[in-house]
Amino acid sequence: MGIDSEVTRAADIINEQQDVTIISHIDADGITSETILSEALTREGISVKSVFVRQLEPLTMHQVPEDRSFKIFADLGAGQQNLLQGKGLHSEKVLIIDHHVSQPCTTEYFQVNCIPHGYLKLSAAGLAYLVARRLNPDNHDLAKIAIIGNVGDMMAREHCGLTGPAREIVEDGVSDGSVLVRQHDLNCYGTSTRPLHVCLAYNDDPFISGISNNIDGARRFLKKINISGNDSRREIIWEGLPFDARKKVMSALVEQLMANGEPFDRLFCETYLFPGETVGEPLRNAQEFATVLNACGRWARPDIGGAICRGDRSIAYRDAKKMLTNHRAVIRELLEYILDKGVVEISDLQHIHVGNRYPDTIVGIGAGMALSKLNWRKPILIMCQLPEDPSLIKASMRTTERVVSEGVDLQDVVNRVSEELGGSGGGHKIAAGAYIPRGSEERFVKRVNELLGEQRSQKGSGYR
Ligand code: C5P
Ligand code: C5P
Repeated sequence: MGIDSEVTRAADIINEQQDVTIISHIDADGITSETILSEALTREGISVKSVFVRQLEPLTMHQVPEDRSFKIFADLGAGQQNLLQGKGLHSEKVLIIDHHVSQPCTTEYFQVNCIPHGYLKLSAAGLAYLVARRLNPDNHDLAKIAIIGNVGDMMAREHCGLTGPAREIVEDGVSDGSVLVRQHDLNCYGTSTRPLHVCLAYNDDPFISGISNNIDGARRFLKKINISGNDSRREIIWEGLPFDARKKVMSALVEQLMANGEPFDRLFCETYLFPGETVGEPLRNAQEFATVLNACGRWARPDIGGAICRGDRSIAYRDAKKMLTNHRAVIRELLEYILDKGVVEISDLQHIHVGNRYPDTIVGIGAGMALSKLNWRKPILIMCQLPEDPSLIKASMRTTERVVSEGVDLQDVVNRVSEELGGSGGGHKIAAGAYIPRGSEERFVKRVNELLGEQRSQKGSGYR
């Protein structure tokens, strides 16, 4: 069955339901998936309740209600079908809309999953949107929300823009008038809200000598090329700069990279802006919008993120902005902690245990950010305690596209090793996580390192 047939069948199944529970993930992709599905179903007159979980695992399964409602699992479920089976969920009462690697199960739950079809750059929100559009073509207003989910799950990162079915969704948003695409834009985070010198200094993809990791250097660079403030605080905000000024900055950055003999292709990306949102607010920009949602989810208020996706710009947005400030501060602190304390580097892995200092919902994000400042050739593993269950440890891993192309598959490693140790895990080749019993950390590190080594040697690649 192709992805189109799966989408059609999912829409047909949904059309037969009257009472649905959506179980979704707390991150930006999960929140946007839930918004898209619950909006689309409500528009069809179907009664919908939603439940957000940090992850589908034995500890959180009690959050899946034991009622007669039809269950849609979004942005999770594919890797945890055994848990659904264990809960006694019948295949006729379940639909999975997910982009995680599937794990075998004797009950055949129907899935819309892009991975077996080779679409690796489409998130669950993208899939949810395809189903919503099949339910009713008028749902194209939800394209904007799907773009936020796709971008939030890093689907635009490798190719500096969305591709394949995720890119087609962008076209729906453009036709709808809710999305504006900027091509050959600056590939930096924060271009709608942060002062440009901060965006440039925080960015290291590509690394620009004298500018990356160097706030004063970035400021001097802008001064030298005569770019001056364009917002009320006299700060330079990239999105609001006139075309000529943006061109001048890009040319100067290209020159700087060329002078150092570095490639400049990753300096450019496609940016997705939302003209209906206020200039200078994070909601203007798909990447920054996704961070607002991640902040809500990771601080246990995914419902607030959902309200913002549905258009709330008053109380929910005010609360979300507070969470965003806190989210950024804690991630910055975590990043500094990882870099200051230092990771333990072994043959095929670098790892760190942060104890109970940081919440399990953000350690993976921090590890991903730290990796670009560490030895990016070796995957990073970060571990922490789970506050609500002292018998468990959360493990998060991140690597880079380059290392994945060399044969590394974190999902496979994490899944195998956590199972060996009596835990459970999953995710993607590039980013994966697991829960493992406390006390098994050392064995986890050892086995993960071994399996990573095996993956690399099978592909015949070393680290140097
Ligand atoms: O569960 P899920 O797929 O939503 O996890 C997404 C996480 O994986 C994000 O925190 C993101 O940082 C990471 N990720 C990544 N690169 C990708 C895909 C996901 O870093 N290509
Ligand atoms: O939690 P973290 O951001 O590290 O998750 C990275 C990826 O691993 C996500 O796609 C998440 O859904 C997945 N994961 C999983 N099972 C876990 C923990 C994380 O499938 N127990």
